[in-house]
Amino acid sequence: MAAGIDDISIYIPRLYLDAADFAKARGLDPGKLERGLGIGQMAIVDTNQDPACLAANACLKVMQKNKLTPDKIGRLYVATESSFDESKAMNSYVIGMLEQVYGKDTFGHCGGIECKFACVSGSYALYDNTNWIRAGEAEDKYALVVVSDIAKYDLGSSGEVTQGAGAVAMLLNNTPRLLSFDPKVTSTSIKNEYDFYRPFGKETPIVHGQYSNLLYLIQVKNALIDYKKKVKETGLIKLKEGETILDHVDYLNMHLPYSNMGKKALAYLVRHEWRTLPRWKEIIDEVGMEEPIPKDPRGTIESVLEDADFMAKDHQFTKLFTNTEKYVELYESKLASSLIASKMIGNLYTASLYLGFRSSLEFEYQKGVDLNGKRVGFCSYGSGASAMIFSGVIQPEYAQIVKDMNLEEELGPRTKLSLDEYEELHENKRTHEENIRSANKEFVIVDVKTSNESKGERHYAFVD
Ligand code: COA
Repeated sequence: MAAGIDDISIYIPRLYLDAADFAKARGLDPGKLERGLGIGQMAIVDTNQDPACLAANACLKVMQKNKLTPDKIGRLYVATESSFDESKAMNSYVIGMLEQVYGKDTFGHCGGIECKFACVSGSYALYDNTNWIRAGEAEDKYALVVVSDIAKYDLGSSGEVTQGAGAVAMLLNNTPRLLSFDPKVTSTSIKNEYDFYRPFGKETPIVHGQYSNLLYLIQVKNALIDYKKKVKETGLIKLKEGETILDHVDYLNMHLPYSNMGKKALAYLVRHEWRTLPRWKEIIDEVGMEEPIPKDPRGTIESVLEDADFMAKDHQFTKLFTNTEKYVELYESKLASSLIASKMIGNLYTASLYLGFRSSLEFEYQKGVDLNGKRVGFCSYGSGASAMIFSGVIQPEYAQIVKDMNLEEELGPRTKLSLDEYEELHENKRTHEENIRSANKEFVIVDVKTSNESKGERHYAFVD
């Protein structure tokens, strides 16, 4: 049975921090953010917003757009790494909010859980719900998978430039208008790692930034090796002599903690794939240098990062490689459109891969490309660490959905924060009632209990 994404909605908070203002305040060259990391603006949550209300707002949008009543939704999963309760699952808060609009107990039949595995959990949630549909358990109901996060790092840390917030809600069914997932090729890799983690009670993560960058690349490459095996075994793609699987994937969506990480990851995967093909000789001629090899090619991530000579040469090689004609063509046609939203919004952790997918659809459609039948690959990564690679095919009815996508309009008029306002919000110096913007047709927090018997209980309201 087919299964895939029928429609997709996003909710992005309307406060933002401008990257150039931020760079100035931190004494950084704005070029590092703009060109080095690919960051323009970072969406920031107001005092009365949390990941649950971001998720509920994205769900409401997709339900209202499709005129869906709760009886049509069989499952509601929330994937997040910004959880604020160790026990009560975030989907229960979301259902509570949606029932304020649709009526008490209207979601009583709707099962689901909160999923956690850093930024890859949304992909696992999507996969499990796709299989619920494939197994014939859905009884003509949709699954709603919502990925929602607030990416927040310590003030003054190197990760502070890679913040953002937002939610993406995906409606899944067995007659998807947008994308049907390829069966039996989803591939994963996993390893116990401490590249990025957030111990209980800590609001911001402990991050080993450069380590996490390289681990991301390696884990995604490992998942790709498995994906290629499955694709060959299932006969999904038939490779001719001298071809790579990437030649047969029309669009690639990468996990995007910042938009240039997508570029980095694509270059790494393409090098891995092209290195053994006849075309590599032509590439090396154009680059004008041999591909560098670490002193200890079988060494650890630490030993590679400490190999300063290799790191410098590899950096130089990557720059030259990403300027070759063949690579530029691949980058422009398969990845570039997916990075546009990330530059405007920033890091969405679990949701960033799907914001990238949404961005790719909108901006490729605007170019006038016929997307029908195009194969889309997803490279998902979550610290800790696991990667997942899967793919799907854009369906003939896609234009019904994509023609109305308008990121600028959905972001709406935004409020630019001053550095002082941003730092006040970051350090939780305002109460939830001291919000900066007035809510408009959205769920917000109205109360968080502090008494011993109901500590942490959150109450929300829909502001019309
Ligand atoms: N103008 C243009 N580019 C500049 C620049 C300038 N003035 N200064 C630096 N750059 C470039 C660097 O060359 C580098 O490019 P490269 O990636 O092509 O090498 C890029 O900007 C980033 O610079 P770098 O020195 O690596 O930044 P950093 O040490 O501050 O760390 C992160 C960057 C992403 C590791 C850090 O922000 C972080 O820890 N983020 C959180 C974790 C994360 O996102 N991990 C990703 C995997 S999930």
